[in-house]
Amino acid sequence: MEQTFIMIKPDGVQRGLVGEIIGRFEKKGFTLKGLKFMTVDRSFAEKHYADLSEKPFFSGLVKYIISGPVVAMVWEGKNVVVTGRKIIGATNPADSAPGTIRGDYAIAIGRNVIHGSDAVESARKEIGLWFPEGIAEWRSSLH
Ligand code: CMP
Repeated sequence: MEQTFIMIKPDGVQRGLVGEIIGRFEKKGFTLKGLKFMTVDRSFAEKHYADLSEKPFFSGLVKYIISGPVVAMVWEGKNVVVTGRKIIGATNPADSAPGTIRGDYAIAIGRNVIHGSDAVESARKEIGLWFPEGIAEWRSSLH
């Protein structure tokens, strides 16, 4: 089953949006497969955003991501990469539609609350980086 990596960024945590964001993914029908509350260091953030290292905003982006705790998650379900990006909304909150997370809770691209993998292959890489120990599995059904 398809999986994606979702991270609630430090501004999302600080503003108390964790429950709201998790609720949106749960209510849509996706399955939470991994969750960590953690503060990452500079070299880890640089690895996560390695593809953007030549961008002029790279150092500001890294500073933002390491500024406080984030919530790192793995979500699973049919088409979760593309649908997760739809739930999140466009990268620039100026373009993200009301009803999306960024459309409802963000106004600036440099403080856009949440990250979601942009493709199945980047999801695989990001999950490997953030959850190197693997993710929890059910051993038996509860019902
Ligand atoms: P994210 O979905 O995490 O993917 C890359 C991130 O880079 C993006 O969200 C923004 O936080 C950040 N970003 C992209 N473009 C800009 C920009 N022009 N200025 C500042 N930050 C940006």
